[in-house]
Amino acid sequence: MESSGDRPAILVAGGAGYIGSHTCKALSAAGFLPVTVDDLSTGHAQAVQWGPLVEGDIADGELITAAIRRHRAVGAMHFAAFSIVSESVMQPFKYYENNVVKALAFARTLIELGVEPFVFSSSAAVYGLPTASPIPESHPTDPINAYGATKLAFEGILRALGAAYPLRSLSLRYFNAAGADPEGQIGESHEPETHLIPNIAKAALGQAPALQIFGDDYDTPTARRCATMSTWPTWPRPMLRPCATCWRAAAARR
Ligand SMILES: NC(=O)c1ccc[n+]([C@@H]2O[C@H](COP(=O)([O-])OP(=O)(O)OC[C@H]3O[C@@H](n4cnc5c(N)ncnc54)[C@H](O)[C@@H]3O)[C@@H](O)[C@H]2O)c1
Repeated sequence: MESSGDRPAILVAGGAGYIGSHTCKALSAAGFLPVTVDDLSTGHAQAVQWGPLVEGDIADGELITAAIRRHRAVGAMHFAAFSIVSESVMQPFKYYENNVVKALAFARTLIELGVEPFVFSSSAAVYGLPTASPIPESHPTDPINAYGATKLAFEGILRALGAAYPLRSLSLRYFNAAGADPEGQIGESHEPETHLIPNIAKAALGQAPALQIFGDDYDTPTARRCATMSTWPTWPRPMLRPCATCWRAAAARR
């Protein structure tokens, strides 16, 4: 296992996944040692290229304690969650168990060892059906599925922990991360792939069946245009705006 040397170590929970692995590369470029903790349930060992991989569950206090002590971690980032919206609706126990209960156990170990700050990969799913676009941070939160509810629940937990203990946290709310490392070392590899933009790209490349949208009455020219080529029934149509924008940008480059 790589030692931290002089570089300050950051524990990256879920560092073998899509966003976590890109974050590890960015952390390394910024002079940190990213220490990935990942059970490889949806991630890939070969995506861990910029620091050690500690294979296991974030709720395993002994494992996390050993990793923190060995590398003298000075902070943590949390990407270790399940994130398939439709699955979360059908299997809420699975989502609350991993995204809330295990995340809480992880936070407990960090607090016990005095590790802070903490960056949490939350989601724009906390907003539910937003009434404004772009969504202001002050927009009311009202998740419409268990996935979004677990993210909002853990944000609240972090606030409560921060009030009681010296834990500084930041929750990032975003959705539809897309694209790959410009140097081609890593990319997105979900199985199944449920994200809209990669599925649109796959359909355009002929690697997946054409997508369709149910309904073509969303009142923007871009969304109407998008409606002719894609379907994504689990996504509210206002969320197709970024897809339409992305598609237009791609078309403009051709
Ligand atoms: N992809 C997006 O567009 C997007 C948008 C907003 C928020 N997020 C959030 O960002 C995070 C990362 O998303 P992603 O697309 O990279 O997902 P991903 O599935 O590629 O990565 C998640 C990683 O966490 C690991 N993991 C899950 N549970 C674990 C556990 N209990 N212990 C140890 N490792 C565990 C998985 O093996 C995987 O490597 C998730 O929390 C997700 O909810 C993603």
